[in-house]
Amino acid sequence: MKKDNSFSERNFSERIVAWYDVHGRKTLPWQINKTPYRVWISEIMLQQTQVATVIPYYEKFMASFPSIADLANASEDDVLHHWTGLGYYARARNLHKAAKAVYEQHNGKFPETLDEVIALSGIGRSTAGAILSLALGQHHSILDGNVKRVLARHGAIAGWPGQKAVEQQLWTLTDSLTPKNDVRKFNQAMMDIGSAVCTRSKPRCDECPVAIDCKAQLAGKQTEFPGKKPKKAIPTKSAWMLVVKQSGQVILNKRPPAGIWGGLWCFPQFETEAELDEHILSEFTDKKIVHSKAEWLAGFRHTFSHFHLDIQPILIDIESTQDLAEFESCVMEQNQTLWYNIHHPAKVGLAAATERILSHLVALSAADPI
Ligand code: ADE
Repeated sequence: MKKDNSFSERNFSERIVAWYDVHGRKTLPWQINKTPYRVWISEIMLQQTQVATVIPYYEKFMASFPSIADLANASEDDVLHHWTGLGYYARARNLHKAAKAVYEQHNGKFPETLDEVIALSGIGRSTAGAILSLALGQHHSILDGNVKRVLARHGAIAGWPGQKAVEQQLWTLTDSLTPKNDVRKFNQAMMDIGSAVCTRSKPRCDECPVAIDCKAQLAGKQTEFPGKKPKKAIPTKSAWMLVVKQSGQVILNKRPPAGIWGGLWCFPQFETEAELDEHILSEFTDKKIVHSKAEWLAGFRHTFSHFHLDIQPILIDIESTQDLAEFESCVMEQNQTLWYNIHHPAKVGLAAATERILSHLVALSAADPI
């Protein structure tokens, strides 16, 4: 959009709302038939994930769980299955937990006060404000990552927004700028401008309705705001993942609810190669599995927020002569174990590393069908 001088005579929110009327997104799936439930699901999916990626996941999720009751009554595996590929699985576990709380404590009706919404698992002040303003037009301000960037640049607010004092300054600013009227348009526009105009590395200031009095833009210092998180080195850990495969099926274990990949299905994992060897010897040698057939697949790194995990997958392809039923009975003793068919996937949530190894196996089996 060309710069329009008349913009300078209008206050911040008027310019944002005028921009929305022309350029804002209005037909995304969660903007049609708006309810707090539909907006809630979209806001959670949109955290750390782009709109284009979210759309197909959102459509499928809403088709499977059209109401809070459907979500509350679903199994955790089914909910996590719908999240496979989106990452940040705590979001899905919290959604499920919150849906149960709404079902049990609010008779299945999504609460409509800010404090009650914030009390639900996985919903902070900004997300609660977004849900109630976008779905019901209530007057609440928001401050997600995109809005933080727009405001930090416009006001040249120094410092990393992860610091309490900086975040508080930004909340005061968003509170003072959010209009009573047109709050829906204003909040949606701020998120849209943050994601499509005021982008991290190459902001499109010539398309921005508030560039004219943006302190960072006037100083040519857009990329200096918001301030960066101080870098800290994160440690590297190693893991050996055992892929036991027979007739197109592999063994997966369900991880305990807490900790990394909580509740998701993973290959049996070992912290040292010695532990892996010991496991292979004890589990497989008696069963006449040919140890020398253990094959090292391509290793890779998965990075969590607080450490890198270097993963080495090891494939044991059990001879097709082995009696699967006999073997199965040995691994099914806790029902946290599953024979997963790589060609007919079970509907369960998979960890990112599991998915990566599975796609490798699918590619291998396409090259050498079993
Ligand atoms: N990111 C978080 N919420 C969003 C929304 N409602 N629209 C676009 N991007 C978003």
